[in-house]
Order: sequence, then C-alpha cells, then structure tokens
Amino acid sequence: MNYNNEKDFMNFKLPMETSSGAEIILNGEKFNYFAGTSYFGLHNDPAVINSATEALSKYGLTSSSSRGSFGTTKLIVELEQEAADYFETESAAFLPSGFLTSPIALQVLNQQNLFDIVFVDELAHYSNQLAVKIIGKPVIQFAHLNSSDLESKIQQYGEVNKKPLVVTDGIFPIHGKIAPINNYSTIVEKYGGIIWIDDAHGVGVLGNNGRGIIEHFNLTNEKIFFGGTFSKAFGGFGGFIPGANKFVEQIRNDNFFNGATPAPSAAIAANLTGMRILREQPEKRFRLWNNAKKLKTGLRKLGIEVDDSNVPVAAWSLKTKSEMQRITDELIKKNYLIQFINYVGAGDNGVLRIVVFETHTEEQIDGLLDQLGKIL
Ligand SMILES: Cc1ncc(COP(=O)(O)O)c(C=O)c1O
Repeated sequence: MNYNNEKDFMNFKLPMETSSGAEIILNGEKFNYFAGTSYFGLHNDPAVINSATEALSKYGLTSSSSRGSFGTTKLIVELEQEAADYFETESAAFLPSGFLTSPIALQVLNQQNLFDIVFVDELAHYSNQLAVKIIGKPVIQFAHLNSSDLESKIQQYGEVNKKPLVVTDGIFPIHGKIAPINNYSTIVEKYGGIIWIDDAHGVGVLGNNGRGIIEHFNLTNEKIFFGGTFSKAFGGFGGFIPGANKFVEQIRNDNFFNGATPAPSAAIAANLTGMRILREQPEKRFRLWNNAKKLKTGLRKLGIEVDDSNVPVAAWSLKTKSEMQRITDELIKKNYLIQFINYVGAGDNGVLRIVVFETHTEEQIDGLLDQLGKIL
C-alpha cells in the first residue's frame, strides 16, 4: 500500500470504517486484520446483524430505565436464560459491560463474607485490579500464573482462619496464556477459599462446548465464580455472570446492577444470536483452534516462542520499540494489520500481538506468516 504515515495506524488515529472481521477497511483501503477479539467474526455475521436491527426497531435503543425499574425487556429475560443454558448454570445475570463483572462480583462475594484477604495475579486485567482495590480488604499480588508463589503468599500473609479469595483472568489478553485454575482450585480448597475468574477471553473459545476455562479444566467446583463478556467471542456487547440461583440473585440485588440502564437492545439481540450460533455450531470452535495451531506452529518455525494452546492469541517482544514499530509498518505496506500494543501484561516496551479468527482463510494466515518471515 501507499501510505505516508504508518505510525498513524499504530496509534489508531485512523478509525475503522467497517466492523471487526478477518478483513477490514481503514482509510478506504482493505486490510487482512489480525487484531482485536472478534474470535469468530460474529461482529459482522449477517444473522447477528439482522437480529440486532430487528430488536432496534421493536424495542428502541434502550429501555430508558434501569433493571431496578422497568428496564428489563423480554429480550433480556431470554438472553439471561440462554446464558444459563449455555453455561449449564441455574441462572445468569446480564450486566451493562464486561468491565463491570469483576467489581460487581467481588462486591457481592464480599457482602457474603466469603473471604478475608485477596490474592491477585500481578498482571490481572484492569477490571480485576479495580475490583480488588474498591472492596476494602487486604490485597496481595502473586507472580503471574505462578501457583507456587500463590501458595507461599497465602501461607505468608493468610493467618489461620483467614479465607483467601484468588482473583485472576481466565485467558490473559495480551499473550493469550491460560491461568492454571486447576492448581489454584486445589490450593484454595486447602485454605477454605474461593476463586474469581474474569473469563472475558475464555468464554466461547475454550472447552468443548465453549464454556470457557472452567470447562477447559473440567472443574465443577462451587467455590469458583466467573464472569465474561459478550463483546469478544459472541459478537455483541455487555457482560454476564452465570452461577447458582442464590449468587446470581445477589448480583441482581446489587446497586451496580440496579442503578444502570441495560445495554442497547441491538446489543442484547446480537448477544443472543451470537451465543446460539456458538452453541449450535461447535465446528466453529474447532476451526478456530485449528487456525490457532496453524498460526502458532508457523510462528515457532520463524523462531518466535509461543505456546501451543488453542488460544487464538500470540504475542512476543523485540529488544526495542523501534524494531517492533518496523515490523508493523512493513506489514501495513503489505496490507496486514497486527498490533504493536501497550496494555496490561505487555510490559514497558509493549509487544507485537497477533490474533487469529475462525474466519481467517488458510491463505490469509500463510500470507501473514510469509510476510513476517521476510521482514523479521
Ligand atoms: C480480561 C478482560 N476483562 C474485561 C474486559 C472488558 O470487557 P468489555 O470490553 O466487554 O467491557 C476486557 C477487554 O475488553 C478484558 O480483556
């Protein structure tokens, strides 16, 4: 491509002109897009878009009042039931954003007096960091993904009879690493604690039925609580917390839940359709996992160290920012967009991050790897 200032792409000064997908348009030009979180390309799926449009005509943009008032539409009731069915839980609560799931859940778990001290992964997402800050209990960080450090911190700081709460992301957004929840579960059981997982990137993606990290590890533990977002795998918008009736009822009684107008009707309908598509078409997940394997195998052949999990995210860093900038600039010239990103978990210099979707073709993935091979 012929563009004068590639840095503008890097800095996102150029807004997207299409929805997120395997191909997007920026500045009037088509790109192979390997960034963001539209893991199944549902953000531009015709069924998702049609249902959103219909809902908009029927319900207007929002219900104009909070859930504590007349804010609950039939569509929301349907969505909450669909989410409960999808995760095979008794119930589920729909929330105005994915970011809010952690602050709300921790507030409710705190009110129930289920923990006395918090242990949080040092690279947990901003929403988890905010959540642990505002509940007013002691907070200790443990080393990223490190079960032994978690246990020794619990031994060091958790006095007898102090119930620990372990807080973590399910999949960490930048490197796509999976938290060892199986190990955490064994540990908290020993100390009478509980776990909160922000599984924003895991739901839809991990597990044979797309139920996320808990299904990935085959855990059925009442001491593990989790929430997710519709804005990534499901192609929609807003957060959700599935769980037992009692817990979800308490979420519904919380001020965060009652004091906010729900997300727009178009988003709610999109969430419903996206979730149904992923439930009814498990082959989509298997294709996504194949694409993840293909991308990561290709990256390893280029000498880039990435794990071989099914997570469709890979990231690595180079010695200097300017080297990473050069890689994204060279790729932009060939109409491939990956991201040089600064975000929680990316360190001071940032990292190069590639995301592969289920809707990427083999040619697109091969093309990206081929271009990367020429410029690394
Ligand atoms: C780990 C994690 N949790 C929560 C969120 C927030 O979700 P949402 O953007 O749907 O509010 C994000 C990113 O968007 C995330 O990466």
